[in-house]
Amino acid sequence: MWKYYGITHSDHTVMNPTNLSKTREIIECLRLPDNGRVLDVACGKAEFLCLVAERYEVTGTGLDLSPFTIEEARRNVAARGLKGRIELLHVDGGKYEPDPGATLDLASCIGGSWVYHGHKGTLEALSGMVKPGGLVLVGEPFWRTEPEPDYLKLTGQDAGLCGTHGANVRTGVDLGLSLLYTVVSNEDDWDRYEGLQWQAAERYAVDHPDDPDVKPLLQTSRDSRDAYLRWGRDCLGWAMYLFRKTRGIRP
Ligand SMILES: C[S@@+](CC[C@H](N)C(=O)[O-])C[C@H]1O[C@@H](n2cnc3c(N)ncnc32)[C@H](O)[C@@H]1O
Repeated sequence: MWKYYGITHSDHTVMNPTNLSKTREIIECLRLPDNGRVLDVACGKAEFLCLVAERYEVTGTGLDLSPFTIEEARRNVAARGLKGRIELLHVDGGKYEPDPGATLDLASCIGGSWVYHGHKGTLEALSGMVKPGGLVLVGEPFWRTEPEPDYLKLTGQDAGLCGTHGANVRTGVDLGLSLLYTVVSNEDDWDRYEGLQWQAAERYAVDHPDDPDVKPLLQTSRDSRDAYLRWGRDCLGWAMYLFRKTRGIRP
């Protein structure tokens, strides 16, 4: 699994369907304090953490379980001159124990909510780690339309994978979080996110004809491409949701 994702995401910097300009847009909304502390769970190549550390005077910790991706993250952080401010840990996010007490200014998990058994569990876990008034940022899929049973069958997904965009917001609000902002990916963003995976898989196959994993790699990549083109492009959405942990103020 790690090898498959490592290959198919080799051309991505941000490993989710939010484009760079929308990622920067939501980073502008963070308004983090100097010396603030940030945790990013399932940090991928640490691109989000690097962009945050380049925008604000903060320190960050990134967690990722993939041996391939955490190495990419280390290279990225070193190349950006951020080794002194970003710590990277090769760990299971679900087993990571943050410092006792809610000490963080921002806790994020972008595209990894299975770590906490879904969107609600992720919001609960992250909000438990941030200070009152601190921020929780998640990236999460949502259904734009009801998924076809054939789509679910081919992708092995469950209709309960996610809710609607409104339901994703409502989950946070029902937990007592204040919604500050969302950025929603459009078809261009999705096409880029998916297309980079197809091109990376096809290129790997040409460059490594003797690798026995090439056949299943191409099969999975092409099945996923076909499901996306036939159904996923219309029914699956993606958004980043920025919430604030309230200081006990409830309307
Ligand atoms: C869709 S990618 C998103 C990466 C990153 N947040 C981004 O948006 O660029 C999901 C990431 O979750 C990581 N991951 C999967 N299971 C994990 C776990 N149990 N703990 C920590 N990271 C995990 C994967 O290695 C991958 O880098």
